[in-house]
Amino acid sequence: MYSRIVGTGSYLPEKVLTNFDLEKMMDTSDEWIRERTGIERRHIAAEGQTTVDLAEPAARRALEAAGVHPSEVDFIAFGTTTPDLVFPNCGVLLQQRLGARGGPAFSVETACSGFLYALSIADKFVRAGEAKCALVVGAETLSRITDWKDRSTAVLFADGAGAVVLKPSEQPGILSTHLHADGTYKDLLYCRGGVSTGFPVEEPRMAIAMVGNEVFKLAVSWLGKAVDEALAANGIDKSELDWLVPHQANIRIIQATARRLDLPMDRVICTVAEHGNTSAASVPLALDVGVRDGRLKPGQLLLLEAFGGGFTWGSALVRL
Ligand code: ACO
Repeated sequence: MYSRIVGTGSYLPEKVLTNFDLEKMMDTSDEWIRERTGIERRHIAAEGQTTVDLAEPAARRALEAAGVHPSEVDFIAFGTTTPDLVFPNCGVLLQQRLGARGGPAFSVETACSGFLYALSIADKFVRAGEAKCALVVGAETLSRITDWKDRSTAVLFADGAGAVVLKPSEQPGILSTHLHADGTYKDLLYCRGGVSTGFPVEEPRMAIAMVGNEVFKLAVSWLGKAVDEALAANGIDKSELDWLVPHQANIRIIQATARRLDLPMDRVICTVAEHGNTSAASVPLALDVGVRDGRLKPGQLLLLEAFGGGFTWGSALVRL
């Protein structure tokens, strides 16, 4: 028994913030941001719009694409670092909105790898026969933990949501997932402030702190190893891959992974220019964009990967 992606969906908040808008807010330039990151614009949640507000339309679109009524959902795994509340978790809040009741619903807080962690867990429940219709979500309002006075991080992060529906299948769908974490480097990328440690009284009270160039080097190295690991575990040569659907942190990191796979950039789904880094939402957002514009087709072989704070990272090899 396998699990298979039977529907994808995504949602972006209406407000768009361009690099030129950022030029007016801080000492930066469109040229610097585009050259160093590939980002041109990003979407930012409206005041009062929460992570679950973004996740709900993404989930409904995925369910509609799958031809599944929301009440059929019996498992929700929700990747996010920016939950609406301490509890109930975002999975439960989403379950209530969808009118699905009784199945497990939880969130996973592994930063940018949140969707891949959630997908891996859901895959195992579906394969074990314990879930018949699993909803896997990645959604974030990272703008709420962005220090808008810190140009080294504020130009990167953004808001959005993506979702997939997984169902049991005798045909291979999710071929493998590999997850990793290494807390040794936790000080290179973290969010200041927390429920248990307390929130700093000075501004910014809760914000992402990152040593960008160190994170960059580790991301390139570990993502390279992660894609090799996924191919080796499945006995698949890189020439058999149809698409790379990467985490959208930085176009230069994406290009490095594509080079490692000998994949031309026209076989990589790139949304970083329009979406920025939406953390756990980035991979399912890119996946949905590729499915809906017709580039990603049933039967194709996709490699999904992500790297984020923790550090956490991982991959999924998927037959659509
Ligand atoms: N505008 C203009 N100049 C800037 C900006 C900005 N927005 N930000 C930094 N600079 C300056 C720096 O001050 C520095 O100036 P100096 O040389 O005078 O000291 C210079 O630009 C170079 O800074 P670097 O940090 O070395 O620039 P780099 O080329 O490494 O690019 C970046 C920075 C884009 C952050 C890159 O390192 C990166 O993408 N890192 C990885 C991010 C990532 O993948 N994070 C993981 C996922 S995120 C998550 O988990 C939540």
